Amino acid sequence: MARKYQITEELYNYAVEHSLKEPYITVELRDETFATERAARMVSSPEQMQFISMLLKILKPKKSIEIGVFTGYSTLWMAMALPDDAKIIACEYNGRYEPFARKYWQKAGVEHKIDLRIAKAHDTLDAILKNDNELETYDFIYIDADKLGYIDYLDKCHKLLRQGGLMIFDNVFLFGEVTKTEHVNDVLPNAMKEFNKHLHKDERFDISMLPLGDGMTLAYKK
Ligand SMILES: C[S@@+](CC[C@H](N)C(=O)[O-])C[C@H]1O[C@@H](n2cnc3c(N)ncnc32)[C@H](O)[C@@H]1O
Repeated sequence: MARKYQITEELYNYAVEHSLKEPYITVELRDETFATERAARMVSSPEQMQFISMLLKILKPKKSIEIGVFTGYSTLWMAMALPDDAKIIACEYNGRYEPFARKYWQKAGVEHKIDLRIAKAHDTLDAILKNDNELETYDFIYIDADKLGYIDYLDKCHKLLRQGGLMIFDNVFLFGEVTKTEHVNDVLPNAMKEFNKHLHKDERFDISMLPLGDGMTLAYKK
């Protein structure tokens, strides 16, 4: 074990302060989200999205999916990193956020890359799965919603992802609850612990769990 230090909050903040270069437009979207939405802490962290954005610039995926759009923060970061002819199917069941998100996607000139589907993500994925031509054609999938559904998303998305494609699951630390044995309410912590064990054992993927944001696991389809 080479690491001889703890990832303290101070060290984490140091890493962010010495690496984050957030675009003005995503800062603006995030600020407006925090000023207007009570559930604003749901947005992915900028350092996480900067990392995902870099991965997308390297991978240049043509077909992507996002589960959990909210006010469009992570979608905006990803759409800005995608090639101009790429598409991301963005799944969100609450239509109330759409005008907010679209305002920023338009302003950034990336709306043409985003195919927003307002429906339960399971239903959107099932509809895509009905078309055999869609199977194993997706390059990248980001999952950041409905933690109880993670195992189901894993299986559905495995069918959609091409060999060599990448999936990223957010919030795998569940705000630190995954290392605790007692919880105020154990439904979500138990579901996330179960998912993390399940994915660790899943031989269909190579994985890496990173302590970025609230923890995220990268799963590469073998
Ligand atoms: C954590 S937030 C997404 C945050 C977003 N990725 C970001 O970084 O700004 C989760 C979103 O998923 C939506 N959601 C929850 N369950 C869903 C489901 N079953 N299908 C589609 N959307 C869902 C919620 O309405 C919420 O807007």
